[in-house]
Amino acid sequence: MNNELPGDHPELTHGIRQVLYTEEQIRGRVAELGQAISRDYAGQNPLVIGVLKGVLFFMADLLRELTVPAEVDFIAVSSYSAEAREHGMVRLMKDLEAPIAGRHILFIEDVIDTGLTLNYLLQNLRARRPASLEVCVLFDKSSSRLLDIPIKYKGFDLPPYFVVGYGLDFREKYRNLPFVGLLSPEVFQNSKKD
Ligand code: IMP
Ligand code: MG
Repeated sequence: MNNELPGDHPELTHGIRQVLYTEEQIRGRVAELGQAISRDYAGQNPLVIGVLKGVLFFMADLLRELTVPAEVDFIAVSSYSAEAREHGMVRLMKDLEAPIAGRHILFIEDVIDTGLTLNYLLQNLRARRPASLEVCVLFDKSSSRLLDIPIKYKGFDLPPYFVVGYGLDFREKYRNLPFVGLLSPEVFQNSKKD
C-alpha cells in the first residue's frame, strides 16, 4: 500500500484529504516501540494504562509486540476546550480498576498536542505513588506544546494538523480507518457552524 487514498470505500474516507501514515508504516514503528519497551522492562511486569478511546488500536498492537508479561488497564477523560483544560478541568469519566502503588506504569496516549490532558493525568497518577511512570505516545505534535512533558517512547512527530483514523476521531467519526489521514479543512469549517 502507498500513501494514496484508497478509493474503494468512498463513504468511509469521505472528508479525508490524504493518507499520512499507512497501516504498514504504523505497524513498523509500533514494532520498534515494542522492542524498545520490552528491552527496558525486561524482568518486570509493567502495568500498561491507556486513555480511551483513541488509544484503542495503538494499545492493542503495541501490547502484542511486547515480550514481557504486561497487565492492562484503562482510564477515560472527557474533553474540554484548551482554556478549560488549562485550568485543570479534565474530567475523569472512568478510573483505573486497581491501585497502582509500587507498580511500574507505562502510560499510553494516542496524541499529545498542548500536553494539558497528559499533564493532568500524569499528576493524578503520580499522586498514587507508582514505582515508576513513563509515557508512550503514538503522535507528538511538539510544536503545539504548552507544557514540557518528558516522553520516553514516541511513535511519530506530527505537524500541528488534525489527524484521524487508527483509533483517532473527529467528533467520534473515522476511528475505524486502518490508516492515519489528514482531515479536509472543509470538514472542520462546516463543523464550526453546527
Ligand atoms: P492536549 O491536551 O492538547 O495534548 O490534547 C490531547 C488530546 O486531544 C488527545 O488525547 C486526543 O484525544 C485529542 N487530539 C489532539 N490532537 C488530535 C488529532 O489530531 N486527532 C484526534 N484527536 C486529537
Ligand atoms: Mg480523543
